Parts: sequence; C-alpha cells; structure tokens
Amino acid sequence: MERVGILGGTFDPIHVGHIQMAEAALRGLELSEVLIVPDGRPPHKGQVTPGRHRLAMARLAAEERPGLRVSDVELRRRGVTYTVDTLAHLRAKHPQRDYIYIVGSDTLMVLESWRAFGRAAALLAGVAVARREGDDLAAIRRQAAYLTEKYGLHIYLLEESVAAVSSTQVRRLAARDQRLEGLVCPAVAQYIRRHRLYRDPMLEELRRTMTPPRYRHTLGVEQTALSLAARYGVDQDKAQLAALLHDCAKHMEQEDMKALVRRWGIDTAPGEEDSRALLHAAAGMAAAQEKFSVTDPQVLSAIRWHTTGKPGMSRLDQIIYLADMIEPGRKDFPGLDLIRRTAWHDLDQAMLIAARRTVAYVKGRGMPLNPRTVELLDSLEAAQAGAGPEGAVPARPEPVPQPGPGPESQALPESQAFPEPQSPQPGSPEPGGAGGREKPRRGKESR
Ligand SMILES: [Fe+2]
Ligand SMILES: [Fe+2]
Repeated sequence: MERVGILGGTFDPIHVGHIQMAEAALRGLELSEVLIVPDGRPPHKGQVTPGRHRLAMARLAAEERPGLRVSDVELRRRGVTYTVDTLAHLRAKHPQRDYIYIVGSDTLMVLESWRAFGRAAALLAGVAVARREGDDLAAIRRQAAYLTEKYGLHIYLLEESVAAVSSTQVRRLAARDQRLEGLVCPAVAQYIRRHRLYRDPMLEELRRTMTPPRYRHTLGVEQTALSLAARYGVDQDKAQLAALLHDCAKHMEQEDMKALVRRWGIDTAPGEEDSRALLHAAAGMAAAQEKFSVTDPQVLSAIRWHTTGKPGMSRLDQIIYLADMIEPGRKDFPGLDLIRRTAWHDLDQAMLIAARRTVAYVKGRGMPLNPRTVELLDSLEAAQAGAGPEGAVPARPEPVPQPGPGPESQALPESQAFPEPQSPQPGSPEPGGAGGREKPRRGKESR
C-alpha cells in the first residue's frame, strides 16, 4: 500500500518549519509523497490571506523539493472546510493509499477537538508528530498513548525536530518590511514583498509620516516594550500599540499639535504647549484617537505620559516611558546602560534612575523643569525612602548624570530631544526571546 503524508494548515504564509515537518515525515516514515493542503476557509481563523496567495506561496516553497506536492483540494471546496471531509474525499478518490496526517506537537494536544475526530481517525493510517526544540516529550508520549488507546490511531513521533518558526512571526516582520530570510524560503520572501502581503495600514501610515530614523526608533521602542511587557506580565497588544503610536504626532507642526490637543480637551502643564518636544506626547494621545481610532485608556495614558512621566504611572506607562529611552537604537548617554540593565529586573528602580537622570540633565542645561517630571521624581524618591534601608535601591553608586545627548524628555529642542537612533537589527528575534511559536491553531471544534 502506498503511504502518503498530508500536511494541512492555513500556511499564511508557509515557512521553513512547515517544510521541515513535511520532509521529516517524508524521510522518517518513507512516504511516497507529502501533500501540502492549504485550508479553504478554516473554521478557527478570522481574517486570512486569500487562498490564491497562500496556494502560490506553498507551491513556490514546494518547488524543486522532491516528494512534496501542493493540493488545492480544500481551496476548491466552498464554505468552511474540515479535515474529516478532505480525508473522506481523498480516500474515496485513492482507496489504494494509506494517509498519514502530519501535525506539530501543539496540535497533537488538541487533535481530539477536530470535528468528527473519531471518523477522521478511522480514515487515517496514522498521525506523524513533528517535534520542536524544547517540547515536553513525556506529555507528547502520554497524549499519543491516550489517542492510540481511545481511537486505535497509530502515532509516529518523528526523529528530526523542526525549527520553531511561526507564521505570526513572519507576518509581523513582513509588516515592518524586515528580513524574512531564514524564516521562509527565498522565493516566498520575494512573493511577499512583490505582492505587499501582510502590510499593516497603521505601520504604513507611520512609515509615510515619519522620518526613517524615527520610524526605526518606533520599531525599536515596539521591540523593547514587547520584551518588557512579556517580562512583567503586561498585556503585549497594549504595549505594542502604545509603543507604535507613542511618537505618532511628532512630525506635526506645533500649531497643529496645539489645535489637536485642544480639540480633544487634553490638559497640559504650564509651558508644555510652548515646547514641541513635550507637546507631541499630548498630541500623540489625541492623534491616536482621531487618526488611529484608539479608545483604550491604558494605551492612551502610556502615550500621554511617555515624555514627562507623572506620579502613579501604571506598569504600561512605565514600560513605554523606559522603552522610549532604552530601545536598541538609542545613542549612548550617561546612565543608559544602567537604566537598560535595571529595567529588566526592577521597573520602579529603572524609573527612579531615569527620572533622576532626566532632572539632572535638564538642570545641567539650565532649562525649566516640567512640573510632572518633578512630581514623578518626588514620588519615586518618596517610595524609595518608604522602602527603608533594605529597599529597592541598589547599594552600588549610580553614575552622576552629565549633560550630554539626552533622553527624549523635557523641554529639549527637537535635535537634542531626539538623538538619531541607529537602526535596530533587522530580523531581530521575537521579543522576549521567545522562539515565536505559533499558538495552537486548532480551537475547539476546529479543522
Ligand atoms: Fe516621544
Ligand atoms: Fe520616542
């Protein structure tokens, strides 16, 4: 009996992990071929890229890879597609074939939630499980034993492990026009660029209105804010949105900023309206609502206070304030390294060092201090004093901040307030150092 593998999925887009899964099964189980089957309208997903693009990319990825073939069987079917129907169709068409379904280890755990799983299992000669680095092998074996016991389904654990790439990671990089090499095959990367897939209207707008260094800075803030949010258990979507929009009004003329801020009834501190470097935070809060339809008060607050800070900042406020200051492209300034290191283990302490640094910098330049910044520092100093001698402040002396190229804060002229950032590393790893594992794709009653 001929044995054929099936690798189903949304493939939005197909990436090297998918190809490795198919080839690991092809070699490991001596299959005659593996069919790559892009979903039609998957039951578990909202918006997906049109089938013709996903199919074209799958074909490009499978090209010149002996043993891999792309099937449009699901794309040709109307409506929501379920694996059980595809299997029934294929078995009826090729009764002489045995089919092995190939899944990732995360999918194995939720396999039973597939529609009519018992019937699907009966149509299969087995399921091949591709492992990824760091998988819990004991849990995989337990689940495999359970499915075999309950459904008589043979489960093959493939020897070769596959790269922990995710389509989400690829889409995120593509939206930022960053390098996809190593994550998808070159022809797919080219296809994504040529067809401008995964472009995000918000990012496109930011790229259109910002100077290239500021856009790179924004992406650096996003990357840092995502990592900090993961580190401190703060909502990553909110951190990402606030980071992307924190400087969304910075390109505006001062008079336009003033009008915008007034239109949205945003209070400003004395002197704030007179400083473009300060006013862009309040204007950013207004623009986030007016132009980008943001309504989340936590996100708006983080944008509002990213420059001056204020007492009683939320974790999200702190993350955006600090990410703005320490993102990888920031030009060095005295104390930057200490703030960077501290931010990873103690946000309050990092805020204290940052606020001290800012106040010293502004005073050193003989410029007026923003009252919010003074209040911020006072509140952080008071909290530290309240923490007692065993409190959060490290024993090591802090470097005395010197006037120099400053953090973006206070009433600095634009050129000083915004040191030209170096470009963040293209194709940098997923924030938080996570390998970018895609969430289990199969929800309840899926596939
Ligand atoms: Fe800013
Ligand atoms: Fe910024």
